[in-house]
Amino acid sequence: MTTVITYGTYDLMHRGHVRLLERAKALGDYLIVGVTSDNFDKERGKINVSQTLLERVENVKSTGLADKIIVEEYEGQKIDDIIKYKVDIFTVGSDWMGKFDYLNEYCKVVYLDRTKGISSTEIRSDNNSLSIGVIGNNRLASKFIKECSFVNGVSTSGLYLDENKNREMFDDNLLTYDLNELFNKSDSIYIVSQPNSHYEQIKLALEHKKHVLCETPITTNVKQYDELLKLADNKNLILLDSLKTAYSVAYQRLLLLVKGGIIGEIASVDAVCTSLKSANPASWDSSFDSWGPTALLPIFQLLGIDYSDISIYIKKENNYDTFTKIAFKYHNAVASIKVGNGVKSEGELIISGTKGYAYVPAPWWKTEYFEIRFEDPNENKKYYFKNDGEGIRYEIIAFLDLIKNNTNYYYISRDISRKIIEIREKINNGMLND
Ligand code: CTP
Repeated sequence: MTTVITYGTYDLMHRGHVRLLERAKALGDYLIVGVTSDNFDKERGKINVSQTLLERVENVKSTGLADKIIVEEYEGQKIDDIIKYKVDIFTVGSDWMGKFDYLNEYCKVVYLDRTKGISSTEIRSDNNSLSIGVIGNNRLASKFIKECSFVNGVSTSGLYLDENKNREMFDDNLLTYDLNELFNKSDSIYIVSQPNSHYEQIKLALEHKKHVLCETPITTNVKQYDELLKLADNKNLILLDSLKTAYSVAYQRLLLLVKGGIIGEIASVDAVCTSLKSANPASWDSSFDSWGPTALLPIFQLLGIDYSDISIYIKKENNYDTFTKIAFKYHNAVASIKVGNGVKSEGELIISGTKGYAYVPAPWWKTEYFEIRFEDPNENKKYYFKNDGEGIRYEIIAFLDLIKNNTNYYYISRDISRKIIEIREKINNGMLND
């Protein structure tokens, strides 16, 4: 008996897949099909696969061609499978030509001609096409533009420099000097300008019927925020917070574990985010604008927004706020943030509980790794998750999914978004204690 094995994602099953499986089956008597798991696909750059693993397994099953279906979970599994199932032939489409020659040591490798003119990537792009216009001029704008290219269907339509600086960071072909022109060629807008420009820019974008993804805080006061939300809802448009940490995989898993009770009841959440000022004074932000929303996120997402007390300490240098410490009191817990832009500290996140604690090492806001620690160190657990593009890639997918109605899930709830604005407003008005 000749055993044949082949691997693939099999997202949105198409005739290219079926033709490949037919020819793979014809190479022998028994066909094993490996379907790649979601995590493994992310590592290979297929980040917004549309169907779940179960649906993709069903796709393969429905062809009736596979004698056995397995899941591919990790790098190096192919060799294990070939040995385990006594495979005679490994086969895959010609798009992989040469890539699997190393398996010749274990079995025969056959590359089959790929069917021309069809691919899951193309189907996904047709279903999901979204053009995003960018307003901003900083490093985050340039990172965002790069990350768009990793999400199937998403493209950047142009960049409007809200202030004429950092031009050299961007491709000349992308620059536009007219906001209306940007709106005309975009389905949606990403805003990463100074917080006090957000309100006008969002309002204009919504009036032009564009969905908006905007760096947190969305506005500088709650009244404007409420007004914009109403406008977005009336026009059936998405207005979403952009804060890359909220979308990152490790951070999401940390929240799930802690909410699931792994460290017992939460007693304290303490988050620190700091940086030293860049050489260019034109890009100096206050410590709160640089880091406040990020540091507040785990506190509000774990303990809620109904604290009973808040006290704020600000260190100023030439009237410029370089360091802010905020302490919160909750019914049965406390929390604190320390944020600096001009003061440096250890950028860690610690969540203390009645059974143990979560420790996320610096820089926790883009971490791929954290630990859950207990009294007995033998019980400690380490967690590692890949965080492609520091979370920006997942943020773009979340925005796309909301617009295309694949989901209704907001990673940052409106209540939290509003609370962050309220605290910023308090600081700007000098109201530092309740
Ligand atoms: N395949 C093929 N002809 C196509 C598309 C895919 O022969 N037009 C083959 C691939 O070479 C692979 C298998 O089908 O051996 C599964 O491919 P998969 O990666 O799941 O599908 P693609 O359509 O190539 O997906 P993507 O566009 O995401 O790369």
